[in-house]
Amino acid sequence: MKCQVCRGPAVIDVRRHNANFCQEHFLRLCRDQTAKTIKQFSMLSDGDRVLVAVSGGKDSLAVWDILTELGYDADGFYLGLGIGEYSDTSLDHARRFAESRGLALHTEDLLRDHGFDVPNGSRAAKRTPCSACGLSKRHRFDEAARRGGFDAVVTGHNLDDEAAVLMGNVLHWQTDYLSRQLPILPERHGFPRKVKPLVRLTERDTAAYCLLRGIDYLVDECPMAVGNKHLSYKAALNDIEYDSPGAKHAFYFRFLDQAAHRFAPSDAIDESEDVAPVSPCSNCGAPCSNEVCAFCSLTMRATEAVPIEMGATRRRKVSR
Ligand code: FES
Ligand code: ZN
Ligand code: ZN
Repeated sequence: MKCQVCRGPAVIDVRRHNANFCQEHFLRLCRDQTAKTIKQFSMLSDGDRVLVAVSGGKDSLAVWDILTELGYDADGFYLGLGIGEYSDTSLDHARRFAESRGLALHTEDLLRDHGFDVPNGSRAAKRTPCSACGLSKRHRFDEAARRGGFDAVVTGHNLDDEAAVLMGNVLHWQTDYLSRQLPILPERHGFPRKVKPLVRLTERDTAAYCLLRGIDYLVDECPMAVGNKHLSYKAALNDIEYDSPGAKHAFYFRFLDQAAHRFAPSDAIDESEDVAPVSPCSNCGAPCSNEVCAFCSLTMRATEAVPIEMGATRRRKVSR
């Protein structure tokens, strides 16, 4: 197996490109594909300060590493979700990566800072754990970006993630979600710009990237994601990809090229809100469409219903 660029010994095959690469040229491919995505969708400009949403997993550490290599000024933000050992370990990985590269990692913890964690909060609010988790992450990442004066929030969503979400949205014809399933959401209504520079790379690519760069990431998947429909969509897409290399890429990128604009709303907004925001949340000041934003509403329900468990130092007072 030879590298298609230098003809030296290859370390990985990339079937959708019908090519093999040595370490140097695979790492370059990952950076080039990321830079191409950033440019194609006008995600970032020179001089932008970006905040990377870091989980300690392969995707978020890979995107943080690649952006730094590409010369961006990128801090990390980690939100502790209170999911037992999984959360403790994920924070260790994020911290070790930041320290090894001298990068700034900002941290926040749902239980310590907001009085609830994902398992208890989702039960109290009668949401699935992933829904309570996603809502909390979006709100806290946005708030951290606003507070820190960052130009954009970067997430490590990859091609497998986006293709699986697209499959779920198409299967149920969730046209409102389809309208927002873009690799960039511009800044508007007080929400920061959000970008996904890894949408050309697969999970296998980001895992290989981390391995070859010596990045020690958290391998375990979130224990609360068991039964999540996206995992079955990913498995189905992997089967299709096995027989038709490049199918995932075509599914997602042709959607962007040929179909996404058909679902474009007149007023796209953040996923955590149902309609266009009109006023600041009366509790936290975040832009929202109701008197209280979805995160503060979740916090109220969770902290009213859930007794504080070990590790909580205070219950955050949330006024109605
Ligand atoms: Fe959010 Fe698992 S990481 S529920
Ligand atoms: Zn090579
Ligand atoms: Zn709020």
